Amino acid sequence: MTQRILVLPGDGIGPEVVPVAVAVLERVADRFDFAIELDSALVGGKAIDETGSPLPPETLAKAAESRAVLLGAVGGPAWDDLPTLERPERGLLGLRAGLELFANLRPAILFEPLAEASSLKSELVANLDILIVRELTGGIYFGEPRGVEVVDNERRGFNTYVYTEHEIDRIARVAFDLAARRGGRLCSVDKANVLEVTQLWREVVSAAANDYPQVELGHMYVDNAAMQLVREPKQFDVIVTGNMFGDILSDVAAMLTGSLGMLPSASLAADGSGLFEPVHGSAPDIAGQDKANPLATILSVAMMCRYSLDAPDAADAIETAVHQVLAAGFRTADICPVSPGSDIQRVGTEAMGRCVLELLE
Ligand code: IPM
Ligand code: MG
Repeated sequence: MTQRILVLPGDGIGPEVVPVAVAVLERVADRFDFAIELDSALVGGKAIDETGSPLPPETLAKAAESRAVLLGAVGGPAWDDLPTLERPERGLLGLRAGLELFANLRPAILFEPLAEASSLKSELVANLDILIVRELTGGIYFGEPRGVEVVDNERRGFNTYVYTEHEIDRIARVAFDLAARRGGRLCSVDKANVLEVTQLWREVVSAAANDYPQVELGHMYVDNAAMQLVREPKQFDVIVTGNMFGDILSDVAAMLTGSLGMLPSASLAADGSGLFEPVHGSAPDIAGQDKANPLATILSVAMMCRYSLDAPDAADAIETAVHQVLAAGFRTADICPVSPGSDIQRVGTEAMGRCVLELLE
């Protein structure tokens, strides 16, 4: 069976890191013997420039027909002054909503050779391996009503924080399943001391726990969770939370690893199809210079193999190759020490891709 994959390079460094990761995907498909068919389309700022929309209908239609989407990044200064609903980011949010990608998996893993890059003391982050499961199609990001209106001669802005029971239950079950296959611990993050919507969240997550006796469930308020993440991050295994808290906590967790350029993500629908993208942004300041780190996009391809393409061996092989290139001393600028030792070799985007490919021979 041939699986369709849609490639959306997007903006900034996206068009540089995506081809490198596609080459890796083609290599593992060949080596592990699964058939893929690639197509590409426009999204984000580039799509605005060429079609007037950050998510042209053709792109969404192609994405809906694909088993997996590989996305580079969207956005850049050229589009910063557009109104909220016309910005490149809407392309991303439209894909999440249109494909019902409700489960966002954001691993924060510390790569041993990069331990020094963390802003925390290395003993606090050594061997760190956290997985944040963020609800991605609900909560305050999508709640209605929303807007800015004029009341009594002044403007009033408002959004709605809303979750239904089934939305909470399905993301909780994804997180419980993942926790059961990892360290067996799940921390649900809410603000149940203040917000009714998250009191419901806590109730529904607790009820789902009855079906997962092998997982130890805990609850934390989001302010405390933010503090605990920087105080003692290794206390966490899997964290499950809503859309906005997950947005914020996943950036904190990413920074703990000291290497935003290394982190992949997966956004999954109920049928296992998904969108895979690096956590880093479009980095317009280094775009077009062969400086970007392609490893987060390559690791996103590994997640694609594991979660959507049913090719766990390919996923393992890619992850092993990435560890090996780092252990061998290859570094793009973002993860290169200021005064590197003689065992470190600084490389560009394409060369880093070639290093990974060679290990996948
Ligand atoms: C992320 C980003 C997006 C979000 C933006 C670009 C809309 O911050 O994926 O975390 O807020 O979800
Ligand atoms: Mg974010």
